[in-house]
Amino acid sequence: MKFTTALAAASLLISNAFAAPSQVHISLGGSVDESGASSGMYVMWKTDDQPTSTVKYGFSEDDLSNTITGSSKNYLNKHGYHHTALIENLSCDVSKVFYQVGDPADGFSEIFTFKRAPCAKSNTKFSISIFGDMGYLDSDLRPPKIPHGDEPYHGLNKVWSATYSRNMLESLKDNGEIDWVFHVGDIGYVDDSFASAPLKFTYEPVYDGYMSWIQNLTSTMPYMVSPGNHESECHSPICIAQELKYGRHLRNFTAFNERWTMPSKESGGSRDTNMWYSFNYGSVHFVSINTETDWDGAEEQETGDSHIPWLKAGGFGEDGEFLTWLEADLAAAYADKKAGGRKWIIAAGHRPYSTIQEMKIEGLFIKYEVDVYFAGHSHSYSRTTSTTKPVYIVAGGAGCDEMGPSKDDLLLGPVGGDLIESDKYSTGVLDVSDEKLSWRLIDSIDGSVIDSVDIA
Ligand SMILES: *[C@@H]1O[C@H](CO)[C@@H](O)[C@H](O)[C@H]1NC(C)=O
Ligand SMILES: *[C@@H]1O[C@H](CO)[C@@H](O)[C@H](O)[C@H]1NC(C)=O
Ligand SMILES: *[C@@H]1O[C@H](CO)[C@@H](O)[C@H](O)[C@H]1NC(C)=O
Ligand SMILES: [Fe+2]
Repeated sequence: MKFTTALAAASLLISNAFAAPSQVHISLGGSVDESGASSGMYVMWKTDDQPTSTVKYGFSEDDLSNTITGSSKNYLNKHGYHHTALIENLSCDVSKVFYQVGDPADGFSEIFTFKRAPCAKSNTKFSISIFGDMGYLDSDLRPPKIPHGDEPYHGLNKVWSATYSRNMLESLKDNGEIDWVFHVGDIGYVDDSFASAPLKFTYEPVYDGYMSWIQNLTSTMPYMVSPGNHESECHSPICIAQELKYGRHLRNFTAFNERWTMPSKESGGSRDTNMWYSFNYGSVHFVSINTETDWDGAEEQETGDSHIPWLKAGGFGEDGEFLTWLEADLAAAYADKKAGGRKWIIAAGHRPYSTIQEMKIEGLFIKYEVDVYFAGHSHSYSRTTSTTKPVYIVAGGAGCDEMGPSKDDLLLGPVGGDLIESDKYSTGVLDVSDEKLSWRLIDSIDGSVIDSVDIA
């Protein structure tokens, strides 16, 4: 009797531990309110072996009486279920939403809270952190094992850290200095993760690790993402050697599109993927562009980042669909701005200015008065100092496996333009009001302000 009870208790513990939802993250979405802002929030999480998806939510911690059923996907056999549910049609007077995720049979997560997007086109103030290219942990905790001299090996550095920027983000959150986060591609560098265990399958475990590491941020504030080249595939030795088991399931931005849900459907963007989309928040129209596929000359339009012929990628829309959408989206935002609506248009995408030129969309940015374009890809910081818009900002110095000890590929503004540059580990913050966009770049190690500018 005793034995059976103990056994039952133990198996209960084990099954709970196994089923515990993890990697909880949210993003703006759902139908828009009268101001054009998202009235809801996508809630996403992972379980190891529970495919059903339930969110319980309410407006105080002790009343989670609303229930939503979501859906889940398993894109790689034996690597768990990725869940998505949409909390929708939150009224404008809702200030805080309390929620938990899980399943009635296996249990729920702890209770998290988030704020609904402001229901207005003006008179709103908010702050976000924007950056690209953040890796997972650092080279002390995940030492690279493949040969290194003094030179980086295939771009992989011996000594690097994303921990400083992660800690900076945590303290910005704790101090109430940011309302949400925009990560413009290269999320966790999971395709480089084999560096610390060259013969193991690390892609999914490291993605899981990254998502848990950022959960404090992502479960309590929208974490919006754009596709970067490091999202395109797994090209580690084991993913290539065991193509049927791994490689083919992880090519074509699969993990990126299955783990995250951005408001693409809502904005007429890339349908069921996160490759391009837009959304409004307070006085800003944000547009997330696709620098990786779906335009002539896009780097991953035929094959992924390693260009191994059978790891195919690209084609998220019909020919020309993305750029046609982009122009229409910018034109609508511009018309709204001219009619006294949202004051600012902010574009963001993974690759910097030279790619905007290759895409031939520089003219669109000028015509529709985009105020700023944020990018990453270069593992450093640069900003154009000219007063002409858009201002081009590369915020790629969050820290990653490929971030060198010195500047790499800077010079990303218009040719001949003056630039401010930095090769420090850094975290960017944008404070938005009706009067101005105030940008500052913070040194992730000592907290000092490296660069700041007001865009009015
Ligand atoms: C939310 O509102 C939209 C637009 O009014 C409607 O189509 C949709 O069914 C609503 N969703 C829910 C869950 O009530
Ligand atoms: C997340 O929050 C918990 C509880 O405050 C804290 O112990 C943990 O260190 C935080 N994680 C990170 C990565 O900052
Ligand atoms: C990549 O995924 C998209 C969206 O599912 C699909 O339309 C496209 O055909 C895929 N590309 C390749 C090369 O498989
Ligand atoms: Fe990149």
